[in-house]
This record gives sequence, structure tokens and C-alpha cells, in this order.
Amino acid sequence: MSYNKADFDNAFASLKDDMLFGVATSSYQIEGSAFGNCGPSHWDDFAKIEGAITGGHDGSVACDHYHLYESDLDLIADAGFDAYRFSFSWPRLLPEAHNQINPDGLSFYDRLIDGMLARGLSPFATLYHWDLPSRLADKQGWRHRDTAHYFADYTDIIMRHFGDRLTTIAPINEPWCVSWLSHYWGHHAPGLRDLDATAKAMHYVQLAHGLSIQVMRESGHNNLGCVLNKEYAVPVDDSAEAMAAADLFDATYSRWFEDSIFKGQYPSSVLSVFEPFMPRGFEEDLKLIQQPLDWAGVNYYTRSVVSPDPTEPHFGFSCGRGDLPKTDMGWEIEPEGLRFFLDRLHKEYCPDLPIYITENGMAHAEAWQDGICHDEARISYFAAHLEAVSQARDAGANIKGYFAWSLLDNFEWAFGYDKRFGLVYVDYETQQRHPKASYYAWQDALKAQRR
Ligand code: FCB
Repeated sequence: MSYNKADFDNAFASLKDDMLFGVATSSYQIEGSAFGNCGPSHWDDFAKIEGAITGGHDGSVACDHYHLYESDLDLIADAGFDAYRFSFSWPRLLPEAHNQINPDGLSFYDRLIDGMLARGLSPFATLYHWDLPSRLADKQGWRHRDTAHYFADYTDIIMRHFGDRLTTIAPINEPWCVSWLSHYWGHHAPGLRDLDATAKAMHYVQLAHGLSIQVMRESGHNNLGCVLNKEYAVPVDDSAEAMAAADLFDATYSRWFEDSIFKGQYPSSVLSVFEPFMPRGFEEDLKLIQQPLDWAGVNYYTRSVVSPDPTEPHFGFSCGRGDLPKTDMGWEIEPEGLRFFLDRLHKEYCPDLPIYITENGMAHAEAWQDGICHDEARISYFAAHLEAVSQARDAGANIKGYFAWSLLDNFEWAFGYDKRFGLVYVDYETQQRHPKASYYAWQDALKAQRR
């Protein structure tokens, strides 16, 4: 993609009037799980498995945001952002998963949230961004129904302490990653490759969402939503087999989650594969999963090229990449996919709901010149995706906000610290922060808007 800052400024200008802009992060990726009496999570455990994470990295120190949160909040406010999407760490608040609350955890999130409010930043909270307490992981984690109930209890604790200070709340970040990516493809903790485990996790993560929303509604909270990740499914060719494979990919990746949340059903094509392993009485749970919501969030990065694959034992498809320009993750840049999902959400699932793009961004290898980390490709990526947002808005979607992923370079899960998604470069040796060109592009645009 060629770089032209005017494209970014124009795309931003077409949206700025009644949308809010923010940055997103998550607890395990930045805080440092070694600090503040945080309990162990299954990511700490996963990191100990040889070969699970590039370079044998882990999140024990990460960006040391636990200690540096004040200056990190300053960076967000100084850029002129309106909102900050962050997540609570379950094991930081409840090191044993339930029972005993960690006072250091409470105090950390008190200071963090008050710090946002003091700087005029709206707190957009996620209750779970993948750091499952080891105590629950050891008892089958998302494969067990109890986890969904423990999650509802954890929700209640958070809302009692912090609920009145949060602008929006989403229970679970990216249920597809929590379930499929972690239990079928085994790329994330707990690293399983098991159909039975996947069927259970895909159901219980949705049940946890429903129970959590129910608890919050019952205690009078509003502005509750969901954050679903999307990957645009493109058939490898125009054969009927490839079309069917892409459709099944989309059903596993996307429709499983929005069909259950917004329509109280699961796609039959996926259910027919999962059927032998679905928990008894799952149909009843669907009523709980389909709770009324106040907004919907979309995380979007890339597309997948889907092929029929007779060697894949259960679903018969495999995914690869095509020949579009790629990010440092090897992910193709395809803004059209974002437009597709925004349109579909608005037309088929929740015509009246406000929609937020809760994550969007790219990994880019560092390139320094004259003391600045140059990531102009990232600015172009943002420009192209903001343009797609603008088109979806023109077509009627009620889009209310956009969050760039991410404020800081951080622990990128199985890729460790090798992939850099930040608007701000992190020197992991010194923990110094260095705003990149993309940070300054946002700052220029946001500050010009205020003038
Ligand atoms: C999303 C995750 C986020 C980050 C980005 C790159 O799937 O929610 O934590 O890893 O991808």
C-alpha cells in the first residue's frame, strides 16, 4: 500500500463528527502478570510449554503497565483520543478464580479507571480478554459449564466495585479465539486440538456471555455489548465446493456467535458436526445467550482464503492467504471485509444498535530514521479501514466509534514480543515508550478536530 497522509486525514474527516475514537489494549498483553499479587493464568502456564510461544516469551513483565499506567494514560490523552478500551484481569482480581479478592488488584483498577476519568477518557471495559485463572483451567476451563457460572460471579464483583464508572462493558473479547482457536487449532492456551473440547468451549463461552449480561442487567447496568472478531471468508475459486467451504468457515468463525447472541440459534451446518459433543440441554441455554444488548463491537484485521480440504477430518476446509499486500503477521490487508461485516451486522443482526469497531490495526516491523519509528504503512492501513467504516455508515450502519489496536507494542500471544502492533514503540529492555509516526498522525487529526 502506498502511503499518503492526506488519505488518512480525509478518511478521518469523513467520520469525526459524531464518532468517538480510542485505542485498545488487554490486561495480559501489557500489565505484567508478575506484579501486584496477580494469580497465575493459563497463559502463564501455556508460556511454559516448549515451542508454544515464539522465543519462549511470556507476559510476566510485558509493558509493565502495572507500574507505568499513569504515563500510558497520558499518552492516550495527549494524542487526543476520547476513549480507552482496556480489560480486567480475572486472576489479578481473583487469584484463585473465586472467593478471595486481591486488594492490590482492586486498587490497581481503581487507580486506572480514576486516571482515565481524570483525563477525560471514557472507560470501555472488557471483563475477559483471555487470562483465565489457572485454577479454572485446571478444572477443564471453558470445557466445563462451571466456568460460565464463575464468570457470572466475577462479573458481579467487577460491577459492584467499578460498574458506575464504566462507559461500556463487554463480557468477553473474541469468543471465537477463546473457543475455536484455542481448542480446535490449538494456537492459544490451553493449546488443545480436540473436537469435543471445541464444541463445549464454543457453547460455554456463549453461555458465559449470556449469564454475565444477565447479572449486569439485574443489577441495573446498561451500555452492555459484545466484542466479536471477524475474518472475511473468500472462496479459493468459484467452484461450488469452494463456496461451500467458505460458507462453513464463516459459520464457524462468525455466524455461530452472532446467530446465538442475536437470534438465539446456532448455524445448523456447524451444529451437525458438533452434535455428538454438545452439552445436554444446550437448546435451553440459547435463551440465556440471546440477551438484549445495547451495542455490538467488531474486531477486524484480515481475510482468509478458504479451500475444500478432504484431509481435514471434521469440517473439510482449510484456510490460507492470497496475494493482497500483507502485514508483518502475514495477514492480508482487505478493508472490504470490514465493510462487509459492518453491513451484515446492521442489516441482518442488529439494525438499531450502535456499532463500534473495537479493534483494528496491523503489525509492522520497526524501522527507525532520525529518531522516529516509521510506520507509515500502518497509517495507510488505518486510512483504508476508516474509509470502509465511512462507506458502511453511508449505507446506514449506526457506527459510533473506532478503536485502534493497539496503544503499545505488546505481548502478541503465541508470537510473543516479535510482532509490533503499537502506535507507540516499547523498548522492552528499558520500558521506554516512543510514539511512532502513526501516533503523531492520530494526534494531528484528533487535535485538528478539536480546534
Ligand atoms: C486480536 C486480539 C488482540 C490482539 C490482536 C492483534 O485478535 O483481541 O488481543 O492480539 O488480535
